[in-house]
Amino acid sequence: MHDFHRKKLAFIGGGNMGRAIIGGLIGSGFPATGIVVADPHAPGREALERDFAIRTTADNAAAVAGADVLVLAVKPQQLAEVTMALRPALAAARPLLLSVAAGIRLAELSSWAGADLAVIRAMPNRPALLGVGATGLFAGSTATTEQRTLAEQVLAVTGLTVWVRSEAELDWVTALSGSGPAYFFLLAELLARSAAAHGIEPETAARLAAHTLHGAGRMAVMPDADLARLRAEVTSKGGTTAAALASFEANGLAGLVEAAVVAAATRSRELGDVYGQSQGAAG
Ligand SMILES: NC(=O)c1ccc[n+]([C@@H]2O[C@H](COP(=O)([O-])OP(=O)(O)OC[C@H]3O[C@@H](n4cnc5c(N)ncnc54)[C@H](OP(=O)(O)O)[C@@H]3O)[C@@H](O)[C@H]2O)c1
Repeated sequence: MHDFHRKKLAFIGGGNMGRAIIGGLIGSGFPATGIVVADPHAPGREALERDFAIRTTADNAAAVAGADVLVLAVKPQQLAEVTMALRPALAAARPLLLSVAAGIRLAELSSWAGADLAVIRAMPNRPALLGVGATGLFAGSTATTEQRTLAEQVLAVTGLTVWVRSEAELDWVTALSGSGPAYFFLLAELLARSAAAHGIEPETAARLAAHTLHGAGRMAVMPDADLARLRAEVTSKGGTTAAALASFEANGLAGLVEAAVVAAATRSRELGDVYGQSQGAAG
């Protein structure tokens, strides 16, 4: 951990995700002097300086100088231009590139960066903004064990981190945890709507649904929690929960979920192809 706190971290893009990671780092005791953020948005930079006492700049190349890790946290469609413009600075500093951009593949990143750098991709999700995210990581073959540990330490401040075994698996991570918060919101929304349709005050129903989602989530991440066992524990034989679960099963919930996850992963692959083709042409 001490070694980690001596590293120099640079961020390109200090928006939602950049800010989430920086906030987590500072909250976990990482020294503010070890962090620099480049972002063209002056009010955003001022807020980062004010909130975290870190250094910011509008000059991306200046942020790269001396960096051990360069976190790429701009929108996917901005990444090709941003990375290619940094080639000389990257060749000089040779940082680990850690991209949180959805859908941009390692091959593209490496070719844009140009300098045969170690590259790691992360797929975080929105709750990372509250420090309770879930991130899938995949490292290119040139990343060392130390660099993998470094990437994991950077993202661990936003919640759970897991490594996947192939880049293709990141499409399934996207379909599961990347897009997943929306699935749970939808289910809670439908539950609330249903209760409201039967007479519960809509606002009351929404609060009950949201707190049920929160409570179930807390139980699901307890040490040694097992989802199937938890479900069994809260389902009495012949009771109300059992009636609802039987209805879900009879109406094909498992098939609906499978189709939805496949649809999300397919879309993730398609977006990766689009970025690869359109921006690769610019590189
Ligand atoms: N937010 C999430 O829940 C989430 C989840 C998973 C993955 N991600 C990934 O995280 C990345 C960032 O997403 P975000 O939600 O943080 O987006 P965001 O809030 O728009 O942040 C991007 C930041 O980059 C800045 N920027 C734009 N052009 C730049 C440039 N040329 N050089 C340096 N900075 C530049 C933007 O400034 P301006 O506002 O002035 O344009 C903005 O502050 C995306 O690639 C996304 O796929 C996000």
